[in-house]
Amino acid sequence: MSGHGEAQGMISAKSGPLKGEAAVPGDKSISHRSLIFGAMAVGETRISGLLEGQDVIDTAKAMRAFGATVTRHGEGNWSVNGVGVGGFQEPADVIDCGNSGTGVRLIMGTMATTPISATFTGDASLRKRPMGRVTDPLSLFGTEAYGRKGGRLPMTVVGAADPVPVRYALPVASAQVKSAVLLAGLNAPGETVVIEREPTRDHSERMLLGFGADLTVEKTAEGHVITLKGRPELRPQTVAVPRDPSSAAFPVCAALITEGSDIRVPGVSQNLTRNGLYITLVEMGALIDFENPREEGGEPVADLRVRFSPDLKGIEVPEERAPSMIDEYPILSVVASFAEGVTIMRGVKELRVKESDRIDAMARGLEACGVRIEEDEDTLIVHGMGAGGIPGGATCKTHLDHRIAMSFLVAGMAAKREITVDDGSPIVTSFPIFETLMNGLGAAIRRG
Ligand code: S3P
Repeated sequence: MSGHGEAQGMISAKSGPLKGEAAVPGDKSISHRSLIFGAMAVGETRISGLLEGQDVIDTAKAMRAFGATVTRHGEGNWSVNGVGVGGFQEPADVIDCGNSGTGVRLIMGTMATTPISATFTGDASLRKRPMGRVTDPLSLFGTEAYGRKGGRLPMTVVGAADPVPVRYALPVASAQVKSAVLLAGLNAPGETVVIEREPTRDHSERMLLGFGADLTVEKTAEGHVITLKGRPELRPQTVAVPRDPSSAAFPVCAALITEGSDIRVPGVSQNLTRNGLYITLVEMGALIDFENPREEGGEPVADLRVRFSPDLKGIEVPEERAPSMIDEYPILSVVASFAEGVTIMRGVKELRVKESDRIDAMARGLEACGVRIEEDEDTLIVHGMGAGGIPGGATCKTHLDHRIAMSFLVAGMAAKREITVDDGSPIVTSFPIFETLMNGLGAAIRRG
């Protein structure tokens, strides 16, 4: 299956009890960053557990186009020979980031303070997504960007020849924007400061420190004030990428709603900027045990035992939790439809500018499956039907969005009738072994 090729319909039928271990692939956010930071260090960075999803492969190709040497040694084992901060060459061709908003936005930041130009594009989903949220702060460094109407790709970015450092308060809670500004700040003289009111995933800060950058994070009344000293020499690292908690969410949620299930999911991140879904599920009455807490690849992790949970209750998800579970609302809305009562998700308008408009995609698909939904610009409300299950029997549109495809395939595992997705091909962007892993646990997912 290719996220760039033909649509691939997929069907999920009622599944037996899920049993066994769900070892999900490496974290997508950390995988992108290990390639990009490796490219900014001088010398060889070794990476294990890299997610070999299409999004990350596209970032690896981009790093080569900017002059880094990126080599695959075996499954998940890669090395990057970096060119150093400010050492990027001008790419000879257009940079195609495929489906990846994280890839394109982080790479734009990385080249924005080097005097080269690059033209970026992506698939039909990425070409609809706003880039102004990144190019606006980059313009403060002296970077120029010329894109389509509304700041859309294809877009040419002209790096600042004489960058100045920047102080920027994030207008949206976005780790991609925060990271793009920090990456641009690496090659600006002096101190670049980013202020975030609500904490978002902190992998860039943790990894920049690991690579030897001079970075501090201060908690103030304004929020987190992140200060980065420009022009460091980054030291190559050995990076062990932990498993992706956003991918783990799919087998975890499938087990919660599929009768008789009892599975283990090893190494799930407990990083407070990523674990909002797991806190929410426990509040809903999910039977999850967090065992063997430890550190892996610099992240706090635990092994999860997850059992079928017949007494899930709808809840109101606190708005301030949104950044720590932003990619998990689609699968949460599936779990909510198998809970008793109403689940209210407010403060979620960022979902409208993801790989698809995820509020709309989930609302339309769940409605087609017989679930009552309410929505407005910033809110999604699911009227749960209880553990007896939702009717299903519909074809749901995925709009080139991997998480929408996987969410409806999970819903089909416990719905009364089969659920079809019109296109499962984008699943390869983040979770290439999804179908094999889920069927290995006992799911009945097939192509069709
Ligand atoms: C990501 C940040 C989030 C998230 C995306 C990965 C990252 O996007 O949705 O999947 O790796 O920085 P935003 O920063 O736009 O919220």
